Amino acid sequence: MDKLVVKGPTRLKGNVIISGAKNAAVAIIPATILINGKCVLENVPNISDVKISCDILKDLGAKVEWLGEHELSIDTSSIISSNAPLDKTSKFRASYYLIGSLLGRKLSATVGLPGGCNLGARPIDQHAKAFEALGAKVDISQGKITAKAKKLIGNSIYMDVVSVGATINAMLASVLAEGTTVIENVAKEPHIVDVANFLNTMGADIRGAGTDVIKINGVKQLHGNASYSIVPDQIEAGTFMLSAVASRGDITIKNCITKHLESITAKIIEMGANVETDGGDTIRIWCNKRPLKANIKTAPYPGFPTDMQPQMGVVFSIADGTSIINESIWESRFQYTAELNKMGAKITPQGKTAVFEGVKSLSGSPVYSSDLRAGAALIIAGIIANGETEIYNIHHIDRGYENIEEKFRKLGAKIQRVSE
Ligand code: EPU
Repeated sequence: MDKLVVKGPTRLKGNVIISGAKNAAVAIIPATILINGKCVLENVPNISDVKISCDILKDLGAKVEWLGEHELSIDTSSIISSNAPLDKTSKFRASYYLIGSLLGRKLSATVGLPGGCNLGARPIDQHAKAFEALGAKVDISQGKITAKAKKLIGNSIYMDVVSVGATINAMLASVLAEGTTVIENVAKEPHIVDVANFLNTMGADIRGAGTDVIKINGVKQLHGNASYSIVPDQIEAGTFMLSAVASRGDITIKNCITKHLESITAKIIEMGANVETDGGDTIRIWCNKRPLKANIKTAPYPGFPTDMQPQMGVVFSIADGTSIINESIWESRFQYTAELNKMGAKITPQGKTAVFEGVKSLSGSPVYSSDLRAGAALIIAGIIANGETEIYNIHHIDRGYENIEEKFRKLGAKIQRVSE
């Protein structure tokens, strides 16, 4: 098992280039199943969730080949199986996209119950509801999900909750369905739009992604034989933005979409840090003083992302004054606060709220990453803390951040990966 050892404090300075979005890549890779042909994906992040997605496609019979560090060729014409390997699918959350994709292409899917970060209950009732509305029978038992249909027919689907995964899965299952599907109360995250753009590039007819209603006119087949570049990772960009604020540093973030970062940018300005943007793909964040207190309530896009909540928690832990976080998406996303308290923070979590009494500084400690974003937050905490921080359970971090320690090292952080 590897651990990260961080020696602080360091004021981060320099440039960082953002990778392709994890949550778009892990949906687009299974979506290639619908093509029944070949495509090339560019700007693919080199992270463990992508590697396992590729392994599963290979197990199903696809030909998957890396053409470069971030370029992936996928040929799904030889897919023969609709049974995804249960041991691999249960290792990460996004394996649920195999259900929509296999159902859409082969009218049958068997996938292990998805794993992923432990953030509390993660039901998939809205996914099942969408598949059933299109005519599938769905069974969830014995650790797996089975969906089968004689044919899929477009329908109206109203999501009871705004769900990223269910929105994408409903799109995947309806792209090749007969007739028109209208999905209401959908999620609007940048990766939803990216999946729709990918499928449209391959010949689908999806309209309205990025708004509350998505309309899909079913097509007979997708054509493939095209390339598609995955959108930059909003959360990775946000993670570096907040590391600049926490460390009182000066970071220029390149290859991001600044429009996707507005809820984070607004909070950074409210906390007294500086933001300069070209309105396109570059944003500079710098901070010369202790950040001011603020409050956040997480919400679906364009609200403040829950996946930025722990990183903001680190900033609040050293901010001037008392800040409050209200987590409205996941019931159990404050596990990292116990680790920050070991480092000298004064955080009181209570249910879906946590109160952060800002302290002047943190001190190094051994800490445990409970999930992906918690891990990223602990790295930032280690960078600003006095002394040495050892971060354990970093396989969570590797699931979603490409070369994170190398990127932080280039900004001046003293961070090493140590194999034990
Ligand atoms: N929900 C239901 N029923 C469903 C689906 C969701 O009640 O059928 C509820 C959930 O319990 C939650 C809310 O709806 O309270 C939103 O969940 P959503 O379905 O949007 O989450 P997800 O698709 O499982 C994705 C990201 C998460 C991110 C959330 C919210 C992927 C692979 N995962 O999860 O990312 O936190 O959206 O934005 O895209 C991460 O990257 O660290 C991560 C956890």
